[in-house]
Amino acid sequence: MSEVDLSPLRPYWYPVGPSSEIGAEPAAVTILDEQVVVYRSPGGVHALQDLCLHRGSRLSLGTVRDNCIVCPHRGWTYGPDGRCVHIPSLRATQAVPAEASVRSYRACEEFGMVWVALEEPRLPVPEFPEHEDPEYHVFLAARWDWTASAGRLVENSLDIGHLPWVHGGMLGDRDNPGTIEPYNFSDQPYSSDHPNAGFTFEWDWEEVDRSQYGRPGERLHYKSRLYMPYTRRNTMYAPKGNLTLYQPTLPVSADQVVFWYFMARNHSLEVPDSHFGSFSAKLLADDKIIVENQRPRSLPVDLAEEVHLRAADTVSLHYRRALAAIGARHA
Ligand SMILES: [Fe+2]
Repeated sequence: MSEVDLSPLRPYWYPVGPSSEIGAEPAAVTILDEQVVVYRSPGGVHALQDLCLHRGSRLSLGTVRDNCIVCPHRGWTYGPDGRCVHIPSLRATQAVPAEASVRSYRACEEFGMVWVALEEPRLPVPEFPEHEDPEYHVFLAARWDWTASAGRLVENSLDIGHLPWVHGGMLGDRDNPGTIEPYNFSDQPYSSDHPNAGFTFEWDWEEVDRSQYGRPGERLHYKSRLYMPYTRRNTMYAPKGNLTLYQPTLPVSADQVVFWYFMARNHSLEVPDSHFGSFSAKLLADDKIIVENQRPRSLPVDLAEEVHLRAADTVSLHYRRALAAIGARHA
């Protein structure tokens, strides 16, 4: 794992938790192996290196005072820009050492989540327009922590070929999986200001089963978007209305990933959310066994490293090429 270079993935927004969970207590999160403390103050949400420069204590064990975070060890106090502004053991006439500055990161809140970027982000926060649309009901179905790379998780989420196999009886039939044809692709989910932003693909699917997205025999239309490098938004268009899955994804390390699973629908509002949430939980429990056991753990971006099928792996190939285009060799 030590050879895995995650640095090309740093300049992007990553989710660190629902806004409702980032409160008065500082929260410790790991993003691409970097330990970060996230805290809320009257001035908003802030993210700093989770390290007091005095004796290496974790700032996330400390407390928030005004807009600052106070180290639990000796009370060194850091502002949102990472500068140490107060050291209790210094006399009032003594200056705080100039080198007492921890790294600070950009933090923001959008779509009910707190996001952090380790470096100047190349893209906006992945869009979730249903969150602001009064016609939709949105709920957070689950948070998942997997011992897997974000790349393997996301590639599996985008893959259609596994549906009748891993989810036979729920999303297809293992005895009659059907062949996979190339999908309809588009490459511009954002404005042209953002090269390598991700991609969109669409396909039709005949409802065969108990997916609850439509009724058996109905033709459903799917539109799946990938916001580079790891967030997926997938909408199913059925005669009764639309259902969107929004999956903001946090790459913790080369072999740990956390993701949240939001569901938004403009129909069946009388049906309890748990009805939809439990269906996706069953699907993801099946996926987890497969994805946590893929080797190597990191997604190899170089196409020479695994065997691909031209049509069935269209999306995977597209995703790996997109990762290569942003400089990633593993994901
Ligand atoms: Fe799956």
